[in-house]
Amino acid sequence: MAKLWGGRFSAPTPKLMEEFNDSLSFDRRLWKEELEASDAYALALRDAGIYSGRELALVRAAFREIETEFVNERFAYKAEDEDIHTAIERRLVEKIGETGKKIHSGRSRNEQVTTDERIYLKKTTVGVILLLKSLQKTAVRIASDTIDDIVPSYTHLQQAQLIRLGHYFMSLFFMIQDDKERFVDVLKRIDILPLGSGAAAGSTLKLDRRILKRELGFVALSPNSVYGVSDRAFITEFLYAAAQTLVHLSRFAEDLIIWSSSEFRFIELNDMYSTGSSMMPQKKNPDSLELIRGKASRAIANLNSILILQKGLPLTYSKDLQEDKEPLFDSVATLLISVKIFEGVISTLKVNRSNLLQRVDDSIYATDIADYLTERGIPFRDAHKIVGKLVLLSLDKNEALRDVELSKLRKLSAKFGDDYYDIFNPVKSVERHDLYGGTSLKRVKEQISLAHKMMKEVRASRR
Ligand code: ARG
Repeated sequence: MAKLWGGRFSAPTPKLMEEFNDSLSFDRRLWKEELEASDAYALALRDAGIYSGRELALVRAAFREIETEFVNERFAYKAEDEDIHTAIERRLVEKIGETGKKIHSGRSRNEQVTTDERIYLKKTTVGVILLLKSLQKTAVRIASDTIDDIVPSYTHLQQAQLIRLGHYFMSLFFMIQDDKERFVDVLKRIDILPLGSGAAAGSTLKLDRRILKRELGFVALSPNSVYGVSDRAFITEFLYAAAQTLVHLSRFAEDLIIWSSSEFRFIELNDMYSTGSSMMPQKKNPDSLELIRGKASRAIANLNSILILQKGLPLTYSKDLQEDKEPLFDSVATLLISVKIFEGVISTLKVNRSNLLQRVDDSIYATDIADYLTERGIPFRDAHKIVGKLVLLSLDKNEALRDVELSKLRKLSAKFGDDYYDIFNPVKSVERHDLYGGTSLKRVKEQISLAHKMMKEVRASRR
């Protein structure tokens, strides 16, 4: 097949090598970005005196026709198309002949590929940020709805302290806030245009790169051509932000899976997000959440592979870098669908209010009892020991903590009084955590107002 670079070659490329070499099967999705970049490039070529006004008009009209072909899924790929860059250039030449051949003046695919990736990733990142905002809104709504429900929190997956369920869901909001900020931050480093870098040294044409920057809507130009064509850290960062977001979701998914088990029954997933078993008729499985948990591993693997790809790779471009696209596209697709499904799951799940405290035994108040003693002047370390003995005694006698008689309590510490029995009250327990960031009603409400403020701020900063 006739290659764009075929001039110095005398032997044909075997079929298998073509298959191995081509990236068209996965980079064809960059057709729009490639057209945008090429259109802007044509304009810069006009400014540099390569194209006349008439030729530029011809090129731009041809690009519009090619765009229509893509939109209507009529673009005809040919066997010699290696990647999306060569495919579009080949089509341009088919359409307008000699004038089309000038489009590649001073240009290299090395800069084209990373330019397209940056255009693509800018749009994608903005989309991700919007999705995360939507998830945050849902988290806040659920937090408000469940602010009066009290559940045990767990450390080491053992009952730890009581918290408001709304407090738990606000933790989702704040983790996603960090994730979202990571994407906002990466955007700064994606928004740098390498076009004009040529193959490595910068174009020999007197291109006005400001035209390219303006046409493509970039904030900055890469200030160094070697950096421009070589660097893929913007992809690494995006893949890290994606992996971390999915890792966050996987932890919430895991909690919700546990909470929906027959042993807990804190929540029930909507049928929409569950599936059955082909063998066991009684089953309703939390597949949606299991998949989110599972998909996090793909995102981690993709981050890993982009790092390994770059490690020790000589500057500037090597064909290895062609392998940067599949992990990127895979993480983007995985992230987008996972966030949407997760939001669907949490916005439709049912909280079984009456079950939340069913399995909580009095030992969850152990810290409250220690605090009770501390407030009455006993150093915490001693209080901890006293309550430890009390817990042991109640286990020995198979007697709930709230049933231990005052006389027995007094043997452990003279500070125990009648008000000891008031400790065993879930609302009182959570209300005692009344400081900034705590789980009292006032403090969870405070978090919700902060969340509303934060959501407004991001909207404002994106003009
Ligand atoms: N298809 C390649 C990629 O995706 C771009 C071509 C790079 N340039 C070259 N001279 N081989 O990275």
